[in-house]
Amino acid sequence: MKRYERLADEIANLIRTGVLKAGEKVPSVRHASRTYAVSPSTVFQAYYLLEDKGLIIARARSGYYVREHAKRPLHEPEITGHKAETTEVDVSELVFSILNSIKDPATTPFGSAFPSPQLFPLPRLARSMTHALRHLSTQAAIADMTAGSNELRRQIALRYRVNGTRLPLEELVITNGAMEALNLCLQSTTSPGDLVAIEAPAFYATLQVLERLKLKAVEIPVHPREGVDLDVLEHSLSHLPIKVCWLMSSLQNPLGASMSFEKKQALYTLLKQHQVPLIEDDVYAELNFSNQPLRAVKSFDDDGLVMHCGSFSKCLAPGYRVGWVAGGRFTEAIDRLKLMTTISPSVPAVAAIADYLQHGGYDRHLRKLRHALETQQSAMLDSAARHFPSETRVTRPTGGYFLWFEFPERVDTLQLLRMAIAQGISLAPGPIFSASQRFGNCARLNYGHPWTPESEKAMGTLGRMIDTF
Ligand SMILES: Cc1ncc(COP(=O)(O)O)c(C=O)c1O
Repeated sequence: MKRYERLADEIANLIRTGVLKAGEKVPSVRHASRTYAVSPSTVFQAYYLLEDKGLIIARARSGYYVREHAKRPLHEPEITGHKAETTEVDVSELVFSILNSIKDPATTPFGSAFPSPQLFPLPRLARSMTHALRHLSTQAAIADMTAGSNELRRQIALRYRVNGTRLPLEELVITNGAMEALNLCLQSTTSPGDLVAIEAPAFYATLQVLERLKLKAVEIPVHPREGVDLDVLEHSLSHLPIKVCWLMSSLQNPLGASMSFEKKQALYTLLKQHQVPLIEDDVYAELNFSNQPLRAVKSFDDDGLVMHCGSFSKCLAPGYRVGWVAGGRFTEAIDRLKLMTTISPSVPAVAAIADYLQHGGYDRHLRKLRHALETQQSAMLDSAARHFPSETRVTRPTGGYFLWFEFPERVDTLQLLRMAIAQGISLAPGPIFSASQRFGNCARLNYGHPWTPESEKAMGTLGRMIDTF
């Protein structure tokens, strides 16, 4: 990272964490140059970058200020409840029908689960694919089928090592995306009828996997900034025979919450004390706007209790279907289950990604991607403040590409979706993120696509529809 990027990052963090508040003046160029021991031109470059991301604005003859999202910024939602609920899961029909209704590529894709394909280095990846295939030994095409390519496992372990987490190579299993990894972890640790602690709201595929495996959900509330409520989790672990927890410790989907370092440590201590394993779904970790690596709960694991799952689908190569799990003490069970089901992800796709990680400029790509996403987040927040009712609440995640909106109680987002689809706009309604189909007045909107006049118009249309409830 260049010096001005590091400085921009530091100031952006002050804004994201609320130390510098909307409307407040940021340090003058002279002051910042003295405080951070950098030249005034470095400060200017950093401020231009922050301006470009939509975080600060210049006022003539007055300096730079933290940008307010429109005249009346929307408030953040509160924690999503105060007690755990045990629920039979029966949401698959609803999820499938919603996913079916939002897949038309002609719609404004606020309901999509992916960022725009334009944000990925697909031509560079194709070159890596060609290069890797030319050099793939005939033997490797068969040998790499079990735990997965040694080269990719080595590259993944190296990235974690640099970011402060030791993932032993022998724990790493390459999978068909994180989805397979998560499925294998759950199958390795549960039997039908068991209780699984999950977040509320949770990624809808989590609910579908629980339903398919006939498991019961214990829904734990989530704070939109700080993540899962540890007091409620502790109470549930003490009173219920929970077999395993499935949580996202960083950039949770759909709320975008990231637990602090200390909270991740406390979560691990709690789980270790109860000897309850954790499936850590960490697929958005690389999309942290601050460019600072996010530590995983796995980094505290000295007892093999954490199954840590990641993927390239969200940050590099959608469609390649390459993910991984560091399975702790469950590695062998996971590996065997994989051999009995899919055997291996596609060897060419794995080889292409291994080649790209070595030669393709992954960190440069990630910095560009994070910058684009942060800029688009600002645009959506601005637009929401202009078009949505003032009682609307919205999250402010520090990464990823989703905002979670809590509309006034009277708004039914399943009905809103039907109205929006008729106007060529998609969204992800709240009830698909909950085993008990709560969050009927909430929706997840995707800002992972370049912001255009059509996006702005679609927000206006949604705002008018919300007003009709
Ligand atoms: C939270 C979460 N976990 C896992 C996945 C699945 O990732 P993959 O595409 O690598 O299977 C997704 C994809 O939407 C996700 O949002």
